[in-house]
Amino acid sequence: MSSIERLMERMNKNAKQGDIAKVKRSPQRDTEEEIDKTERAPKERPVCHLDLAELEKQGFLTPSIARSKVAEEYRMLKRPLLMNAQGKGGDSGKWANLIMIASSLPGEGKTFTTLNLALSIAMERDTTVLVIDSDVVKPSLTQLLGLQNEPGLIDVLLDDNVELGDVIISTDMPKLSVMPAGKIHSNSTELLASEKMERIAGELSNRYSDRIVLFDAPPLMATTEASVLAHNMGQILMVVETGKTPQHVVQEAIAKIDERKVIGMLLNKSRGSLSNDYYGSYYGYGQ
Ligand SMILES: Nc1ncnc2c1ncn2[C@@H]1O[C@H](COP(=O)(O)OP(=O)(O)OP(=O)(O)O)[C@@H](O)[C@H]1O
Ligand SMILES: [Mg+2]
Repeated sequence: MSSIERLMERMNKNAKQGDIAKVKRSPQRDTEEEIDKTERAPKERPVCHLDLAELEKQGFLTPSIARSKVAEEYRMLKRPLLMNAQGKGGDSGKWANLIMIASSLPGEGKTFTTLNLALSIAMERDTTVLVIDSDVVKPSLTQLLGLQNEPGLIDVLLDDNVELGDVIISTDMPKLSVMPAGKIHSNSTELLASEKMERIAGELSNRYSDRIVLFDAPPLMATTEASVLAHNMGQILMVVETGKTPQHVVQEAIAKIDERKVIGMLLNKSRGSLSNDYYGSYYGYGQ
């Protein structure tokens, strides 16, 4: 059993034991617009306080286990993603710092992988990370972080008075910020397919050159939102539940994504270690 698997078992066992984060409000400047709006008076904004002990208990990476095997496995997972994002990988393309964590079917481990990858990237020296709950159908990352009452991605798409800076929430890890999904909307596919979404994606990609943006996505085979969202992504990490998701389903799911996208694959919940199961060298599907 791999260390990831052991941690996931612990995570499942402890899932009901406590919240991993609490939201508090304090006066501060907009996260996104900090530099641009220095003249503005600070306003009350939510801050997501991560409970590191609880996170660790539930199987997530924290700075105190930075030297563990799991941390090393996530290091290997993030390295090619970061290389591509920084334009040093062979497959770097447009908006390569926008990375969608996808899967064919529900429950394959996207949310778990997204948060752990984000925690791992937040420990990097020269990189910041923004995690966006773009599973606007079932926003479980938003719930996990206790942000279900905060505006988010859908609100920016719906309302021209809501800016990106209004929905990006700092955490007490200085290099990690989060964006909740926002209000559930019946036309979320159309919103994600809109020109405004493309503009937002461009802004997220270009504003800070050292920032990685991770999108926790809905499953490709169960929703239309995921393939629409993939359109604006620079890289896609497919999480595949080993021994459960049939190969033809993975192929059908990948076929729903623009064939020019860079796709990496993570075999999750397998017996080997993550590092062995990750197809570390990226391939461009269908190129
Ligand atoms: N490597 C793993 N080993 C054991 N259990 C896992 C592993 N990865 C995920 N799980 C478990 O599978 C369940 C689903 O994980 P997660 O919520 O991350 O999946 P998801 O793909 O985001 O699901 P959804 O499509 O519903 O959003 C969780 O209960 C989690 O504990
Ligand atoms: Mg999820």
